[in-house]
Amino acid sequence: MCGIVGYVGQKDCTKILLDSLSKLEYRGYDSAGVAVVQNGKLVTKKNKGRLSGLEEKMDKEGWLKGTCGIGHTRWATHGEPSDINSHPHGNANITIVHNGIIENYKKIKDFLESKGYEFASQTDTETVAKLLDYYYNGDPRETITRAISEIEGSYALGILFKDFPNEIFAVRKDSPLIVGVGDGESFIASDVPAIIKYTKNYYLLEENEIADLKADKITFCDIHGMSVQKELHTANWDMEAAEKGGYEHFMLKEIHEQPNAIKMTVSPRIVDGMPDFSESGISRELLNSFNRIFIVACGTAMYAGTVGKYVIERLARIPVTVDVASEFRYRNPILTDKDLVILVSQSGETADTLASLRLAKKIGATTMSIVNVKGSSIARESDYVIYSHAGPEISVASTKAYMVQISIFYLLAFELAYSNDIITKDECRRLVSVLQTVPDKIEEVLKDKDEVSHIASQLMSTENLFYIGRGLDYALSMEGSLKLKEISYIHSEAYAAGELKHGPISLINDDMPVIAVATQRELFDKTISNVKEVKARGAKVILVTHSSMSVDEEAVDFVIGLPTIDDMLMPMIAAVPLQLIAYYTSVLKGNDVDKPRNLAKSVTVE
Ligand code: M6R
Repeated sequence: MCGIVGYVGQKDCTKILLDSLSKLEYRGYDSAGVAVVQNGKLVTKKNKGRLSGLEEKMDKEGWLKGTCGIGHTRWATHGEPSDINSHPHGNANITIVHNGIIENYKKIKDFLESKGYEFASQTDTETVAKLLDYYYNGDPRETITRAISEIEGSYALGILFKDFPNEIFAVRKDSPLIVGVGDGESFIASDVPAIIKYTKNYYLLEENEIADLKADKITFCDIHGMSVQKELHTANWDMEAAEKGGYEHFMLKEIHEQPNAIKMTVSPRIVDGMPDFSESGISRELLNSFNRIFIVACGTAMYAGTVGKYVIERLARIPVTVDVASEFRYRNPILTDKDLVILVSQSGETADTLASLRLAKKIGATTMSIVNVKGSSIARESDYVIYSHAGPEISVASTKAYMVQISIFYLLAFELAYSNDIITKDECRRLVSVLQTVPDKIEEVLKDKDEVSHIASQLMSTENLFYIGRGLDYALSMEGSLKLKEISYIHSEAYAAGELKHGPISLINDDMPVIAVATQRELFDKTISNVKEVKARGAKVILVTHSSMSVDEEAVDFVIGLPTIDDMLMPMIAAVPLQLIAYYTSVLKGNDVDKPRNLAKSVTVE
């Protein structure tokens, strides 16, 4: 989704703005722009396409010069990607960048048109810029307060006023924005990676707080104009974590970071060999008090929740429902105060997940979130938050965030099973110690990545593909299929292996490869029967299983043999070759692996 940056300080800011925007490219965008106060005037350069295109434009037309400016990468919602629809928007007096959606923009636009305003773009953002202009009375804070009182929807806004040439103003609602504090310089940004090169210190802007940034002073006030004192946060990771570190793509780097990410996430939650969530304020008694669990999330986070469902139900015997957040929020869910709703989100800003959280709280359920980005909206608004410690995930295709999310679900399942007297303390300790061996097993899988790359080369000209599996293998197949389609653009579907015969087997022929995941030994023979059925109909079969399993060579074309661990934990191991298959297929097809078409890293609109 859109990325916002802003700089006010002593340095020439255009290069800094572009550099910071480049750190937000991972969020997905289709156009970019900057506005700088140049000799007292607000000057804007923007265009459709990548940041490199904007640089080329400035190489030709001249770079903007100034020490105060704002920048934006746009992911189109209202109006096609074009130069004119790119941000910043405004006029000679006020210029803004915006992330979010203004739901009542049409009404505002009609009103402003009736007052003689003309609009150049098709965007909702331009209405906000003109609304600010309409209400401008020489006092930026009053103007902003007046304008936002009329706006419905979500917004993070960076605003320049010509009359205040050394200041940036910012405000947000339902869209993230941070305010960075440097040495004689201040920043705004959608996310920490944008400014980490310049400062690790930042404030989290709260809903409808207005920030006024000068080079050496930042002040905050609420909509009543009352000054607000805020806690300064310090990022506990550095530039290196936000760079590729020698890997060709962030996705490959992040796949390799998984063993460490699991250790960082799991280790602090083990005390005396037992799971311990007291750091998040979650006691054994609390976990014991729920009749049902709902897991609500989007995309990969939702598939992590699906693994969570299988494991919690199997071990702790508590009914778990997994919901796609965009469905949950509108299906009028039946919840009580004995229900626990777990929201899962890497970014902590996904609009539908956030709305589901608010709905669950309103109905009276207890909410708990599993979130990677510290201080994000979902983390802050949940009753309890369990932070995953994956570090920044830059690639749009989520890998390490998935891995740490499921590692938290395993720990939760162990804890729930123990606190509900279903497993003994010894068994709980044993399961925890097995979980701790996962990072080494993943390292082993990563050593064989060339073999996976060879298999990917067999798939690159495929147009359609099936993933099949049973039980936890089915849960994992859904994530494998999502990964492949989002970055390789190959259409794929994940099917419960036993369900194929009920329709989709009619699609199987020699143009339809099948990736079969069979790591659950009690279901192995059944899945192999399904493999034979597709093989008999011409499918090329890639089987992902324990390396110790003996496989009928006639039934498969390729086998990816995995190191063995308890079957229940196999999704953590088997996820890796599925991630690598998607990765290498995308690379071989020459796709933009880290920034796949049409996708955004953080989906802050519904
Ligand atoms: O930030 P979140 O975890 O809430 O994001 C949810 C999905 O948008 C995300 O997992 C998406 O499906 C990824 N592109 C998958 O790789």
